[in-house]
Amino acid sequence: MWLIQLFVALTSFLACVCGAAPTVSVVSNTLLDPNGIFFVSFDVVNVNSFQLSAVLAYENFQYAAWYTSTGVAVLGRRTLPSGAWSTLQLPHTLSANDSHNVISLGVSPADGKIHVALDCHSTQMFYTSSVANLAAGGSWVASNFAAITTTLGTLNIGTVITYPQFVVAPNNDLQFVFRSGVSGDGATQLAEYSGGVWRNVGSWASATGTYTAPNGAVSTLRNLYIHGFTYHGTRAYVTGTWREQNAAVSCSSLGLTNHDTVYFYSDDMGRTWFNSAKTQIATSGTNPVNVNTAGIIVDSLDADHGLMNQESQTVDSSGLIHACISYVPGRFTQCVENYETVRPEFARPFHLYQNPNGTFTKVEIPFFIDSVGRSQIVLDSADNAYVIMPFVRIATASKASGWTDWTVVYNGTSQGLNAFGEITLDRARVSSGLVSVLYQQNSTGPTTPSAVKLIDFTLNG
Ligand SMILES: *[C@@H]1O[C@H](CO)[C@@H](O)[C@H](O)[C@H]1NC(C)=O
Ligand SMILES: *[C@@H]1O[C@H](CO)[C@@H](O)[C@H](O)[C@H]1NC(C)=O
Ligand SMILES: *[C@@H]1O[C@H](CO)[C@@H](O)[C@H](O)[C@H]1NC(C)=O
Ligand SMILES: *[C@@H]1O[C@H](CO)[C@@H](O)[C@H](O)[C@H]1NC(C)=O
Repeated sequence: MWLIQLFVALTSFLACVCGAAPTVSVVSNTLLDPNGIFFVSFDVVNVNSFQLSAVLAYENFQYAAWYTSTGVAVLGRRTLPSGAWSTLQLPHTLSANDSHNVISLGVSPADGKIHVALDCHSTQMFYTSSVANLAAGGSWVASNFAAITTTLGTLNIGTVITYPQFVVAPNNDLQFVFRSGVSGDGATQLAEYSGGVWRNVGSWASATGTYTAPNGAVSTLRNLYIHGFTYHGTRAYVTGTWREQNAAVSCSSLGLTNHDTVYFYSDDMGRTWFNSAKTQIATSGTNPVNVNTAGIIVDSLDADHGLMNQESQTVDSSGLIHACISYVPGRFTQCVENYETVRPEFARPFHLYQNPNGTFTKVEIPFFIDSVGRSQIVLDSADNAYVIMPFVRIATASKASGWTDWTVVYNGTSQGLNAFGEITLDRARVSSGLVSVLYQQNSTGPTTPSAVKLIDFTLNG
């Protein structure tokens, strides 16, 4: 008898230290605004998974951006880890009730300016930046920001802009990633802030080329939706999916024309690009990646499965890419007839990552998303994986298990958060073992404002 007890005790002890999926703990949950603007167009405008960044730590501060109940753009600042939020209002009001029109923040480390890009969906974009060194402290007042422009500083980036994202490059320049053109006919673009001036780098993925779907339909225009533009060391990593213009590539007109997951990287800050076979495939500006570029597909999928665009990605401590993608597995249906109804019923997230030998592995995360929306993947310092799904539901897997022991360790729904849908993250805190998750609460009416909140978790404990 005692032998059995000893065996049970030993195995449960070993399970704890060796293979267990990592846990998370709530550190705090703070209110940014009791009355953020609320309307539903896909999701809410204050919190979209693809925002880079709606919430951003820099040195001892954390910054956040959202729209008030009347659509005025607000910037918040607190001293980490637990200072009170103070806010300022920018002289700009949301121009359309469209959830694409998010606010994105960036900091240029060389001069400590805070950069803000906002309020665009295939339209002109609005932009401002702060006085130097505001990111490291200084008076939190709107007069410390320049007048709002529809250019990026002095750089004209055109008038058909979506998905503004700021990224700090390995030399500490700030880069700006965005889409020009429209869904199904757009290009991904890169600009760069160096010496206080924005300059164009050029387009690195274009709309051109020909896609022939398994059903025989041919599409001649598209855009690349990216899961991220992530630096690790000197390498920029991009995964993404193509969205075709020709709806006939999908089995249903209410499906999504997204297909395939692609991966490529750059070792010169986004000038030249390589596939996972280390072959140069593209040059920004003159010869961007397109749908016919060789050797970039790392997971094949046709346009019949409700594959989501702009999910998320990160890079592990060995410099290997990890993406979270999501779609409806074929065992549920081989034709997603309406992605808005079938994804909430059957879509699952997947963990797609590169192995040291260069091949890719994809593992289905065994939980329903219960939403149309997207999830965010992060890795802790030991490369354990955390996938934060809509409604702040967190599934984790340990590296020790080969990322197979997926476990739900926090469920915002059962915890009563009442989050409306997608969340977005402060990735700048992850290296400190923390993640801040921005969410907005569900509302009591279709346009009744609701609370915008930030919940902080420790990773792995
Ligand atoms: C957004 O919707 C609200 C509430 O319906 C309305 O008052 C407002 O005018 C709309 N804003 C824009 C820019 O269309
Ligand atoms: C590459 O590594 C993966 C994961 O260890 C393994 O499953 C696969 O068989 C390897 N493939 C080759 C071609 O070595
Ligand atoms: C989260 O909790 C809700 C409500 O209890 C439940 O319906 C849902 O299945 C849970 N999700 C996961 C991934 O555990
Ligand atoms: C939000 O609340 C509305 C009713 O107020 C409800 O119909 C809807 O299901 C809720 N959505 C979520 C994600 O809880």
